[in-house]
Amino acid sequence: MTRIEILSVASEVYPLIKTGGLADVAGALPGALKGQGFAVRTLVPGYPAVVRAMRRAETALSFDDFFGGPARLLAGRAAGLDLFVLDAPHLFVRPGGPYADAGGREWGDNAVRFAALGRIGASLGQGLLEGYAPAVVHAHDWQAGLTAAYLTYDRGRRPGAVMTVHNLAFQGQFDPRLLHALGLPAAAFTHDGVEYYGDIGFLKAGLRLSDRITTVSPTYAAEICTADGGMGLDGLLRGRADRLSGILNGIDVKVWNPASDPLIAAPFDAGDLDARAANKAELQAAFGLDPDPDALLFAVISRLSWQKGLDLLLAALPVLLAEGAQLALLGAGDPDLQSGFAAAAAAHPGRIACAFGYDEPLAHRIQAGADALLVPSRFEPCGLTQMCALRYGAVPVVARVGGLNDTVVDASPMALAAGGATGVQFGPVVAPMLENAIRRTADLYRAPRTWRTMQTNGMACDVSWRQSAKLYAELYRGLIAERAG
Ligand code: ADP
Ligand code: GLC
Repeated sequence: MTRIEILSVASEVYPLIKTGGLADVAGALPGALKGQGFAVRTLVPGYPAVVRAMRRAETALSFDDFFGGPARLLAGRAAGLDLFVLDAPHLFVRPGGPYADAGGREWGDNAVRFAALGRIGASLGQGLLEGYAPAVVHAHDWQAGLTAAYLTYDRGRRPGAVMTVHNLAFQGQFDPRLLHALGLPAAAFTHDGVEYYGDIGFLKAGLRLSDRITTVSPTYAAEICTADGGMGLDGLLRGRADRLSGILNGIDVKVWNPASDPLIAAPFDAGDLDARAANKAELQAAFGLDPDPDALLFAVISRLSWQKGLDLLLAALPVLLAEGAQLALLGAGDPDLQSGFAAAAAAHPGRIACAFGYDEPLAHRIQAGADALLVPSRFEPCGLTQMCALRYGAVPVVARVGGLNDTVVDASPMALAAGGATGVQFGPVVAPMLENAIRRTADLYRAPRTWRTMQTNGMACDVSWRQSAKLYAELYRGLIAERAG
């Protein structure tokens, strides 16, 4: 069977390079779309770890001067993915993260670095590589936002263009004087083009110039069309609402499978939830928490940023402690939040404990051992950790926003009576409501049968890519038919 070719353009892809959920999605969607008749190739920047993984790849194209230095396009397979890698050492081979140096300062040339990504993505879409002509170019987040701009202002083959927003807070807004250096014509600098409040807007360009816009949950798709959630882009999005849809993310249910997870102390499934106790004991020991099997163990696995609402959790800690609960937090990011939680841990040894840093194996052990996972986000386009929690029998306690609203069924009296609750939701997202949610969770935990039902309900949810892959497939097919007609 010949599959329809899709080119996915993303600045991170799991397991090669990851700072957040974008990488998980870019890494998992190609596999999910295979069963729907699509062949997805993913274009990513050649960061050191990515180039290392592509050691045996072929050089498909070479450039003497690509945005200021020599570059190659590598083509090959790594980690089960079909990849194109833009190996441009002057742009991507440096210490630190994909977007910032080790001190957290954004690279000063990010406009050029990610224009280069969009430029090569558009060229591949236009048929630069002999024998390769994707039907759709699918760009993710601002880093890939200029792809649609180059496709629009170049003459030549024009594949379908899809833009997915994973997080509207990151928009890629740069000095308008860069227009020429980015290889964009003066005509592009208009309201209907790349101009954004007097600057060049990468995400804005992608949203304005793509044929379809998606985001990662239905609720977030609605939220970003409002002044409150639109972060300056709601006008544009309302104007293009007929092109916008929300498709929920899934998680990789092979990587996240409590029955076969090699990273956890005691594998288990929904029929054998007592086996979770060993994971809880291991987690308490690993974090230095009191070895109390009955204490309600809350956990957090998160970037530490304003988005995630963890300052509200700091404010709510007295209530958590008063309920006799414990907290294990794994997170990295904002230094103020980090010191806030470090101080709380120091003040309450055995009850509150933190691990600062990025630790994928530890994230698995937390999901397997915690009783409840807290996600008090101010906004959350989709959120993946609450879906992992559902699958691992950790009850999600979440803010009622974005994808959290779409993936967790609140333990309201009605949902409990119907036997359908999977977690606890709260809103508005302020500390008193979080405190209330913590109290409600503690009450539910004290009713073991109810708690067990919530756990098994959660574990029965389909958090895989199965449904969503179908929706992406439909979107691609609709777009392809529209462009052919
Ligand atoms: P976001 O992309 O906004 O950070 P998501 O919930 O979509 O939020 O995705 C976060 C991903 O990163 C999940 O796979 C989660 O397990 C992982 N993660 C976040 N923080 C850490 C951490 N400190 N250590 C390990 N994994 C983490
Ligand atoms: C972003 C969002 C998160 C989403 C992820 C993957 O990082 O913050 O909610 O799950 O992208 O789409």
